[in-house]
Amino acid sequence: MQKLRSRVALTTFSLALLFFTLQYLSSQDQDHRYSLLFSSQTVSDDVLENITTAAQTFVDQPVVAPFKNQFWEVGRRSAQVKKWFGLLKHEAHGSDKVHEVLSNVEEAAVSLFPFIPPSSDGLPLSSLFHLPEKGSKGIVMSVGGPNINIRFAGHLISAIRHVFGCKLPLEITYAGEEDLPIRYREALASLDETGQISFVDMLKVFDDKTLRLKENGWAIKPFSVLASRFEQVLLVDCDSVFLQDPKSLFHQQPYVDNGAYLFHDRLLWQHAFKGRHEWFHDQVKEPSPALNRSLVWTEEYAEECDSGVVVLDKSRPDVFFGVLHTAWQNTYDVREEVTYKITYGDKESWWLGLELTGAAYEFEEHYGSMLGWESRQASEDGKETAEVCSFVIAHADTKGDLLWFNGSLLKNKLKEPDAYDVPDAWVMDGTWRKGATKQDMSCMVDAPSKRLSEEEHHILQRSMGEAMAVDALMKSVVVT
Ligand SMILES: *[C@@H]1O[C@H](CO)[C@@H](O)[C@H](O)[C@H]1NC(C)=O
Ligand SMILES: *[C@@H]1O[C@H](CO)[C@@H](O)[C@H](O)[C@H]1NC(C)=O
Ligand SMILES: *[C@@H]1O[C@H](CO)[C@@H](O)[C@H](O)[C@H]1NC(C)=O
Repeated sequence: MQKLRSRVALTTFSLALLFFTLQYLSSQDQDHRYSLLFSSQTVSDDVLENITTAAQTFVDQPVVAPFKNQFWEVGRRSAQVKKWFGLLKHEAHGSDKVHEVLSNVEEAAVSLFPFIPPSSDGLPLSSLFHLPEKGSKGIVMSVGGPNINIRFAGHLISAIRHVFGCKLPLEITYAGEEDLPIRYREALASLDETGQISFVDMLKVFDDKTLRLKENGWAIKPFSVLASRFEQVLLVDCDSVFLQDPKSLFHQQPYVDNGAYLFHDRLLWQHAFKGRHEWFHDQVKEPSPALNRSLVWTEEYAEECDSGVVVLDKSRPDVFFGVLHTAWQNTYDVREEVTYKITYGDKESWWLGLELTGAAYEFEEHYGSMLGWESRQASEDGKETAEVCSFVIAHADTKGDLLWFNGSLLKNKLKEPDAYDVPDAWVMDGTWRKGATKQDMSCMVDAPSKRLSEEEHHILQRSMGEAMAVDALMKSVVVT
């Protein structure tokens, strides 16, 4: 009896020890986990041999055009390289053999993603991964092209600093001097009294031959993320508008859990793009739980992502390799043949890159909401119906409060480039009535609308005040 009891006690003790060890391991970040697992054992020669052989096949048989059927393969290879990279990077101070294998893996990575900039230590992939400062966070915005974008960038910078008092550092990227001339960079910098604003010419970071970033306003975005000195990147379009301090994006639970947080487009045009859905289903061979929840994937709605705001933690290898895939989709040949043909701009390339490389990610819970102006009409049966209309798509946080919307503070940026007006209502999860052309407002019906809170109204009013001051400044820049 005594013996049995002590055996039970011992077993309980061992189980508890095992439990706490497992707890400890799972509570560590990925890096620690790797080093705990591999500090006492090195990767065996057999495995090193295998990595070298497989890496060499990637180099010998590169992915070439046509690219339409290669998205899955590029994802598979990225996931392989990620795995090898994870195994080897903790062995970097190991033997010459390990070094040699790591350089083979680097070579395989560069053959897959030729845009990775060369580095003086011969380890371009590692250099790009370790580029950011540890623990850094910031906002990245690509600005360039038509003057109206530069104006919107000014609005956003001014709102970030003066309406929200947000002190996150800012990186503004552009594609060469003509894209964002010095006089505009100076004007934008003058809006930021914190001095935490830097400008990055992407043509000086990447060899532009296979990218041709100046020719397209969207393609620069994933490259801006890769080049960023921030580990945690809040990527924003210059015409995005915030209703809460942008730093709140880094605190949203889906971001904290996955390191990749995306926003939905409008739920529209079901079954209208057969070819697009066939292609998605052909290339995504093992859908993730996140994709299984998508109504684009399961019910053939047309558009999945509004990429006006994307939140990414590049310090997570999963996310970093996902962004490499996204960037690949936005290289000139791939986007011209596939990405911008089958889908619209960079929108869908974000989740697709994460999905195809096996990274966890999460979308906002709801599809895009409507923020605009409410009107009431009597319908045929005499009942009153309400609709809310505008040109924008709004997005809510995890509590269901408004977070941001796309398309600038202007009421109608295409027709009246100087008319500001604060919207009065918003609706979630209703039915979209899409305007016939880009010149017509879209509306949402069939769901109860909410008035803007006093605080939301106040934030937008102050943002518009800032925007008008920026407009005056920008006019003076154009004249000189
Ligand atoms: C190496 O690759 C071969 C062939 O793919 C496989 O059979 C073997 O199990 C691998 N060895 C190790 C140690 O991974
Ligand atoms: C996704 O859904 C399909 C079909 O319902 C199911 O077979 C599959 O197991 C699901 N996958 C995940 C990862 O949830
Ligand atoms: C907001 O995004 C949608 C979808 O990408 C787009 O059609 C619409 O024009 C955008 N709104 C504005 C005002 O730019």
